[in-house]
Amino acid sequence: MFALKRFVVALLTLGIWVHPTLERTLEPSPECYYFVESRSSHLLYTGNSSVGNVPILEYKVTELTSFDSEFELRTLDPEGVIFFGDIGGQQNYFLLAVIQGNLSVQTSCGDGQVLVTSGPKISDGEWKKIAVMKHEGAVAVRVGSETAVTVQQSAESQRAEIGNGMLRISIGGLLPDSGVTLGLNPPLDGCMRSWDWVRQDSSILERTLQDSKVQRCWEHIAPGSYFTGVGSVGFSSLALLGNSSAELDGADWTLSVELALRTVSARGFLFILLDTQNDYILSLKLNHPSQELMLRLRGTLFWSRSYPQTLCSGESQFLQLQVRPGQLVIGMGITKATMRLTDGDYELLKRVLSQPGSRVYLGGGPAGLSSFHGCLQAKIQGVNVDLDLAEVKHGDVRSHSCPAALDIRDGK
Ligand SMILES: *[C@@H]1O[C@H](CO)[C@@H](O)[C@H](O)[C@H]1NC(C)=O
Ligand SMILES: *[C@@H]1O[C@H](CO)[C@@H](O)[C@H](O)[C@H]1NC(C)=O
Ligand SMILES: *[C@@H]1O[C@H](CO)[C@@H](O)[C@H](O)[C@H]1NC(C)=O
Repeated sequence: MFALKRFVVALLTLGIWVHPTLERTLEPSPECYYFVESRSSHLLYTGNSSVGNVPILEYKVTELTSFDSEFELRTLDPEGVIFFGDIGGQQNYFLLAVIQGNLSVQTSCGDGQVLVTSGPKISDGEWKKIAVMKHEGAVAVRVGSETAVTVQQSAESQRAEIGNGMLRISIGGLLPDSGVTLGLNPPLDGCMRSWDWVRQDSSILERTLQDSKVQRCWEHIAPGSYFTGVGSVGFSSLALLGNSSAELDGADWTLSVELALRTVSARGFLFILLDTQNDYILSLKLNHPSQELMLRLRGTLFWSRSYPQTLCSGESQFLQLQVRPGQLVIGMGITKATMRLTDGDYELLKRVLSQPGSRVYLGGGPAGLSSFHGCLQAKIQGVNVDLDLAEVKHGDVRSHSCPAALDIRDGK
């Protein structure tokens, strides 16, 4: 023990952050539901994982014999960048994206003008074969066997194609220096396979998949958000409550939090409301050693109950939390408990939620403290929470997908 302590102290003095590894080795792991992750080394995650972005592909235009590309894409994310390409700088770009669940093509057409054309629905979680082909001054995007979108090329873009610049393609995000402002949130929780980028070598993508497991996708997915047990997401509470914050003045204002989840490890914070001083005002946690679901208000225990017997059975769990004038209601499945809430506590919750700088964390505390491992779908004020709206998000949390083995829709 002494030697271990010395070792830890040595690491800390070296400035190495050892906390996550220590937690895993020193605490017995409360694994509760075993499942095979089955990430495939042929499926590329398009988002930015904890190892960073998908690498950028670059080709000399003079060496290209084709501008045609194709790949298969699968996503449940309603918004994000599929790929962004430019030739000879940012004036000539082509963006393939998803907006409100539909395919969207945005191209520069000279003079800083942007042409936006929308296509068919794409975010249904099924594999879609997408081809981008150039043909006589136009670019056609095919989905399956149908031509979904055709856009005319600008004169500038046609000139660039016979110049001696570089073609750059970034998958799942913008180019770091692209300077283009898009009316969309770039990260796309999606997967790609069977790609062919401008008929050129793209082995850097295969190498990425070989080297980093976190950049691989699961064979099959289900809706929800996947937390790995080491990271969380944090939102500005105002951004999360959106329009309903306007009604915070109302005397009968209520807060409603609904969680559907399937746990892999039976522990971790599910929901936390933090004030501007970083104090935990309201928190709901799967408390591991005591095996209790715990609700804390202003740091003190307000309510607790033993884990539901089905928590580790692989069945979906449904939790509800409601703050109303004079009452706090918590529901687990079909059982409900109603507690008295003082006016002071009710006003405090209202005040903290409407204060700029207050935050809501899901799936763990700030810096990944006591993180949840499993699939979670949160609804706040009746609206599914979009993790892409988070201020801070651990790279390996998947915003819009869970492995199919943790499908939270089971039993619903
Ligand atoms: C991508 O992830 C890396 C590592 O987690 C992080 O440093 C970087 O800021 C992220 N980039 C974006 C655009 O989110
Ligand atoms: C999105 O796709 C659906 C189905 O393919 C289509 O009916 C709808 O018009 C599209 N929306 C837009 C904005 O193009
Ligand atoms: C929020 O409120 C504004 C104005 O009241 C409205 O235009 C907008 O659609 C609302 N947004 C959502 C997400 O409900």
